[in-house]
Order: sequence, then C-alpha cells, then structure tokens
Amino acid sequence: MSGRKRVGVLISGRGSNLSALIEACKSDLYPAEIVSVISNRPNAPGLEHARKAGIEATCVDHTGYGTREDFEAALDAALRTASVELVANAGFMRILTEFFVSRWRDRQLNIHPSLLPAFKGLDTHERALEAGVAISGATVHFVRTEMDSGPIIAQAAVPVMVDDTPDSLAARVLEAEHKLYPHALALVASGAVRIEDERVVFDRASAPEAALFWPPLEVPSS
Ligand code: GAR
Repeated sequence: MSGRKRVGVLISGRGSNLSALIEACKSDLYPAEIVSVISNRPNAPGLEHARKAGIEATCVDHTGYGTREDFEAALDAALRTASVELVANAGFMRILTEFFVSRWRDRQLNIHPSLLPAFKGLDTHERALEAGVAISGATVHFVRTEMDSGPIIAQAAVPVMVDDTPDSLAARVLEAEHKLYPHALALVASGAVRIEDERVVFDRASAPEAALFWPPLEVPSS
C-alpha cells in the first residue's frame, strides 16, 4: 500500500505489543509501517524484536540526560530524523511532559491494560482484582499530559475469573491488547478517526446485538 503512515514505537521492556504491531505491518494492506523503535532502557528485549524484523532500533537512555526536557528533546529529534508521522507508546514507562506531548498532540497513541478511566498507572491488575470487577480489558488512547488519559480510540473487554491472579488476568488482557493495538493504530493511520471536543469520532460499524455479560445471562442450575 502506498502512503502508509510512518510510525515510531516507544518501548521500555518486553515489547510484546511491539511484536503484534510488527506482525500487523507485514500485510501490504495495513495502513502503517514501523520505521523506528526507540527504548529508554538499553537492555529492553523489544529492541531485539525490532532488529530481527529489520527495523532501526535505538536507545535514548533517560539516565543520560539532566532534565526530562533534555531527554524528551533527544527522543523528539530521533523520531523526526526517522521522519515519523505517528508515535505509538507500547509499554513505554516514562511520564512525558507537556514539552513532548504538545509536539505530538493527536499523533501519539498509548495502550494501557485496563478499561480506562479505571485503574490508571501501575499494578493495574492487582487493583482490578482488589476492586472485584467482573470485566476488565485494555484501552488505546491519544496521549495527553495526565498519565493514561486522553481521547479513547478503542477498547477491548475480557472477563475476570474467580480464581484469577494478577498474572493470569494480565495474560488474558495482554492477548486482547495484541489484537486491539493493531486495530486502533490502523483506524488512526487510515485517517478514519478525528477528535472533536476531546472525543474520538468516526463511523463505527453497526453495534453487535448483545452486550458482553459476565457472568453469562444463563444462571447455572444448582
Ligand atoms: C502492556 O500490558 C501495556 O498495556 C502496559 O505495559 C505492558 C507492556 O508490555 N502499559 C502500561 O501499563 C502503560 N501505562 P509489552 O512490553 O509486552 O508490550
């Protein structure tokens, strides 16, 4: 496909969402291509996934900069050198200030493992279990300066099981993340999405007939 959006992916660690995006970009019909992967940690395993896929992968180590702004200026410069048009945060665990966020406003996405605005920040799954929710999930949103907030592009819901641990819930949510992020990035890259009054609007397909009920509507016979 010609005119694919040039995407820079920001990571800090494992990079499984990065791998899902790399996989999606292999299709000629996908409206985006990853041209740069940048980690703020030198030993992030995700850097290796990118290199194996033939994508330029670099580290902009935040510990090497005196201020957040200096770090963000280096990050911004690296993205611009690669002629990046859209930024996708995929497990990027640095808080970004107004300096960076305003430069990439409406062109930077993030994925978070909860149904935002619930459970922003760290230890998401522990807190979801503690709260006793029956359904959790993942959200892709445009980035604003407040952590894990900004116009919501897409969400995926998963059931919470009675015997879930934070790890088992994280694994179920992560599987959904790997489908959700490529979907959300495609919506943005294809130009299907616009922001009005800090809400994402686009022509949605007709809604499915039924809501997701968890536990299911059928009551088990005792
Ligand atoms: C993912 O679960 C992502 O949603 C989360 O970090 C994990 C990164 O995994 N991001 C956040 O919590 C952002 N607030 P990955 O490196 O395997 O993609």
